[in-house]
Amino acid sequence: MNITLKKFPYRYFPYEKKLLLEEAGTLGDVISSGDGTVEVEARVTPGGTESFIQRLHRLTYFSHFGVGKSAQIPTQQFLFETTANGSRTAARQSTRYSTHGLHEYKGKFHPQIARYLMSRMKLNMDSIVFDPFAGSGTVLVEAIHSGCNAVGVEANPLAVLVAKSKIRLLNCTDRELKSFQRVVDESIQGLKSMRAADYYAKKLGLSDAQFRYLQSWFAPNILAKLLKFRADCQRCLPCEWARVADVLVSSIAREVSHQDVADLRIRRRKNPLEDAPVDKLLLGNAAVATNRALGARNLLGHRPGLTEVFFGDSRVLSPEIQQHLQAMGRRTVDAIITSPPYATALPYVDTSRLSLVLLGLSDPSGLKSLERLQIGNREISPIERKRVEESIETRLVELPNQIAIFIKKLVTALKTSEAGFRKRNTPALLTQYFTDMKAVLAENYRLLESKSLAFWLVGPNRTQLGHKWLYIDTPRWLAALAESVGFAAGMTPLDTYQRFGLHQRNGIREEFLLTLQRN
Ligand SMILES: C[S@@+](CC[C@H](N)C(=O)[O-])C[C@H]1O[C@@H](n2cnc3c(N)ncnc32)[C@H](O)[C@@H]1O
Repeated sequence: MNITLKKFPYRYFPYEKKLLLEEAGTLGDVISSGDGTVEVEARVTPGGTESFIQRLHRLTYFSHFGVGKSAQIPTQQFLFETTANGSRTAARQSTRYSTHGLHEYKGKFHPQIARYLMSRMKLNMDSIVFDPFAGSGTVLVEAIHSGCNAVGVEANPLAVLVAKSKIRLLNCTDRELKSFQRVVDESIQGLKSMRAADYYAKKLGLSDAQFRYLQSWFAPNILAKLLKFRADCQRCLPCEWARVADVLVSSIAREVSHQDVADLRIRRRKNPLEDAPVDKLLLGNAAVATNRALGARNLLGHRPGLTEVFFGDSRVLSPEIQQHLQAMGRRTVDAIITSPPYATALPYVDTSRLSLVLLGLSDPSGLKSLERLQIGNREISPIERKRVEESIETRLVELPNQIAIFIKKLVTALKTSEAGFRKRNTPALLTQYFTDMKAVLAENYRLLESKSLAFWLVGPNRTQLGHKWLYIDTPRWLAALAESVGFAAGMTPLDTYQRFGLHQRNGIREEFLLTLQRN
């Protein structure tokens, strides 16, 4: 039987062109591949027609399929993507469909990759996927779309909240969603008149330090609106849903603050922002979020499985994770899909500072300790640096040779260079990063079912020393670390876009998919 698969009208990345052929190849022999379609001589096992049709519906990189020369049946992915743009001929791949677009998060990865990997592993409704760096929940949402279960761990409380909200919006009744929408709309209407911001800050239980911090970042009337909206939603909604409303507040926080929106770190605008259409922005984001969630929920066709995200540290998984798995009758997971933080990573906590305080998730003074939980963070006190440097020899013995050699060379080069104190931190930071990653990989190994796969999507970095750029080969070194804890590791290059755009001067346009198999 010949099947025609229609490609999406958007431009594919080079690696996606490879993946789409691989995907087509899982269905049978690829006969031809043109600009718009791929033809396959399908291999259907006797009695396997139903599951074959299901696989066609679940394709990631094709928009339609059909028997013979016509491809008119839309894939589920096509339908999901149209929940974001509503258009049938989008020129760009959508990554904001379903609940993915609820909130910005730096370093989010392409939902399509997560979906592709899940379908490649043929996960089913009993399978559990684990993401040790869940971020804003891309893998978790895709697990729901793919009909399996997922567990995530994440160290940034804002990201945890965003991920929980994305799950909540997909896993609720129509009634809950409608009543959420109604309360949000009424609370926005209520912003026409209000008291001073401190009144709502007290109602929300914000501390003096939190309030003072917020006053320095928002004009008084804007702060009053944001806090009143939060307080009204908290009063009228069940706790979990009030948290979803909080995510809406966070989604506009930067835009209505004195913060320069083009800046990743938190820097001030040249001219403070005295007024902003808070009501309009909230209304717009709320409508988009609920409409996309409704659209996606209608497409699911199944009850979302048990998907949950926990605040925590992936170096030492908390007993909560084990308890959660036990409640599902399991001790291990079937797959791991993640994109880890990089060495000298993006400042995830720093970029979330305004929201963390605005939503009462941290005191200004607590931000530093949240930053410290972050693997790859660049903050290191002189005392810590000294502690790492003093133990560097013993620490490096614990790491694969190529990492130790690189770090030792760096230490020597820095002795003779005029590098500033930040640069001098690099050997200690890299040693810490790879030691931390070894701990995470060991936990991954422990949690993963025998013979199962972990996928880590990661790219290299570079650091400047004088006029020379040194290439930090994070993917290769993580693969070596994974082998040192027992995995068999493979690497596939994914020639992508610059994920971190203007914000990551040290970023490189290249990523690798590490495939780690547990024995
Ligand atoms: C590349 S991002 C993941 C983004 C995610 N895939 C998404 O789509 O939003 C890496 C994440 O690792 C988290 N992280 C850093 N250190 C961690 C730790 N010790 N335990 C758990 N998560 C951590 C960061 O907060 C960040 O959200």
